[in-house]
Amino acid sequence: MGTFLRRIAGALVLFQALGSAEPLPAYFRRDPITRRDLSVSKVSVELAALVSNTTTIVGPSDHRWDDAIERYSSFAVPHIELVVQPGLESDVSTIVKYCNQNSIEFITVNRGHALTTTVGNFKGIKIDMASLRDLTIQPDYKSAWLQGGSYGGPVIQKLWDQGYVATTGSCSCVGLLGPGLGGGHGRLEGQYGLVSDNFLNLNVVLADGSAIRVNETSHPDLWWAMQGAGHNFGIVTSFELKIHPRKVDTWHYHNYVWTGDKLEALFEQLNRFHGNGTTPVLMAVNFGDFVMNANVSTTEAVLSWSFVYAGPAADAEHLLEPFNKIGAVSEEAGDVPYPEIASIQGSGIDSPACIPGHRIVLGTASNQVYNITAERQVYNAFNTWAAQYPELAPWARATHDSYSNEAVKKVDPASTAFPQRDENFLLEIAVDLPKDSNQTDAALKLVDEIRGLWNAGQPDRKPVTYVNYAFGDESLDSMYGYEPWRLERLRELKKKYDPSNQFRFYNPIA
Ligand SMILES: Cc1cc2nc3c(=O)[nH]c(=O)nc-3n(C[C@H](O)[C@H](O)[C@H](O)COP(=O)(O)OP(=O)(O)OC[C@H]3O[C@@H](n4cnc5c(N)ncnc54)[C@H](O)[C@@H]3O)c2cc1C
Ligand SMILES: *[C@@H]1O[C@H](CO)[C@@H](O)[C@H](O)[C@H]1NC(C)=O
Ligand SMILES: *[C@@H]1O[C@H](CO)[C@@H](O)[C@H](O)[C@H]1NC(C)=O
Ligand SMILES: *[C@@H]1O[C@H](CO)[C@@H](O)[C@H](O)[C@H]1NC(C)=O
Ligand SMILES: *[C@@H]1O[C@H](CO)[C@@H](O)[C@H](O)[C@H]1NC(C)=O
Ligand SMILES: *[C@@H]1O[C@H](CO)[C@@H](O)[C@H](O)[C@H]1NC(C)=O
Ligand SMILES: *[C@@H]1O[C@H](CO)[C@@H](O)[C@H](O)[C@H]1NC(C)=O
Repeated sequence: MGTFLRRIAGALVLFQALGSAEPLPAYFRRDPITRRDLSVSKVSVELAALVSNTTTIVGPSDHRWDDAIERYSSFAVPHIELVVQPGLESDVSTIVKYCNQNSIEFITVNRGHALTTTVGNFKGIKIDMASLRDLTIQPDYKSAWLQGGSYGGPVIQKLWDQGYVATTGSCSCVGLLGPGLGGGHGRLEGQYGLVSDNFLNLNVVLADGSAIRVNETSHPDLWWAMQGAGHNFGIVTSFELKIHPRKVDTWHYHNYVWTGDKLEALFEQLNRFHGNGTTPVLMAVNFGDFVMNANVSTTEAVLSWSFVYAGPAADAEHLLEPFNKIGAVSEEAGDVPYPEIASIQGSGIDSPACIPGHRIVLGTASNQVYNITAERQVYNAFNTWAAQYPELAPWARATHDSYSNEAVKKVDPASTAFPQRDENFLLEIAVDLPKDSNQTDAALKLVDEIRGLWNAGQPDRKPVTYVNYAFGDESLDSMYGYEPWRLERLRELKKKYDPSNQFRFYNPIA
């Protein structure tokens, strides 16, 4: 059995901070230094005695261990020594206080889809939110309370069945809060804003284990920070989210595959269609990939684009007319209830993109208008790299997320920590390294090159990193905003709410 990573220096400070809180059980009143050799099994036993009987504790020798530490991408893996799955929200406080008393690090994990390498710096206890997934629609049908382990698919389905929708990420497998604490992009943002724009209340466990309510009037400073930089500040055990009447029974989709010679025609139409941040609101999103498709070519990527519209086919196809004229090698269109749209776009719970077992090397950028010259360079560079590394080529994609975003732009940018309301498109270059591949350097080379081309294509603008697409090597201001007051304010709040920087494993501010 391993011993826990010690934070002796910080522990004494924490000890004092906690001293002023409720009286501690006698058990805790000891010098943490004497517990240097605390074993995993001892921690399991001690924690079990403190938490509710609905909490599950899984250690490395448990047959459930592999499932308990499974995560989406294994590129950068947190070193988990013990998994604790709180059965009640109040257990979260208990676990955090216990960790503090014993100088044990903790990390909140919900769906385990974090892509940033900064999670790889972690060693300690995983607080697994998977038992906290209740959803309760409020009597006025204007909001719902959700627990901190909620995730896309079931939330979308449950609300839809009752005639409602809410902002979530676009992938059914991804948590609500992983995305939401960093803003949260999804198919309803044109109509209703980011996930975080729809928060009404957050129940938060702070670094010292205290449980507080955060909203516009209760801890308004933290309320500001948790809408965009929330991963740095606390564990959300439950939250109240706005819900909206569902309005339509089906959404229209149209997926196209074009060959590379259509790139200029496509991007000219995309720029016209999206009009620098004026996309028709119901034209919820189009996701577009440069990706190898062996049915078409083994040497040149295709342009694979999927459009979805929150309404009937006729309205959507009227808007899509210019794309229909480009001349696709294959295309497919139809109308389905909203909960099925994720699968149509390759992001449903059973889609390969949602199933764990990836090893993702990633780079991201954002822009307002597509630079067609730069997109051609990206496409050519992608093909050149694919020819050089044919064994990796099928696993690479350059993705363009083009969301309608009217409601995102309506929110005053200064009113939340989310700094990127001026951006219109999210770009990602990713290589999903095969399990036993030793070609990390080749993947990084592609990522650096493509990210560089995207940024060079907007010479008058600074590089932008959506915090939830960060790989961990980007600058802080590219994630949290270039206006100096943003990081200053976030750092002040860190001092106030997390002085020993416990929440530092997800693109940390400090
Ligand atoms: C397949 C895929 C699709 C994606 N699609 C989208 C998308 O459509 N829109 C979008 O905006 N992003 C998207 N992302 C990025 C996504 O926002 C991040 O990867 C996010 O961190 C995933 O959250 P999780 O709960 O799944 O992952 P986890 O690894 O469980 O959580 C990520 C981090 O969030 C924090 N966290 C999670 N739960 C809580 C909580 N209850 N309280 C406090 N902190 C918490 C922790 O810091 C944790 O390290 C996608 C990622 C993947 C891999
Ligand atoms: C768990 O605890 C509750 C109340 O504390 C009790 O009612 C219940 O019987 C316990 N369940 C088990 C399985 O021990
Ligand atoms: C904000 O939290 C306070 C303290 O819990 C509460 O009294 C108030 O009703 C909350 N506001 C909203 C909008 O829920
Ligand atoms: C896009 O709109 C923004 C204002 O929202 C403006 O600053 C920018 O210059 C525009 N870009 C182009 C290429 O027109
Ligand atoms: C290639 O064609 C096969 C057979 O028609 C089809 O099943 C498969 O989905 C196609 N692959 C892609 C990437 O389009
Ligand atoms: C990867 O492994 C193969 C086969 O073992 C070897 O030939 C190759 O040189 C290795 N490449 C790198 C970049 O290490
Ligand atoms: C478009 O990208 C090219 C290549 O990086 C660059 O030279 C050019 O200045 C960019 N155009 C605009 C309008 O930013």
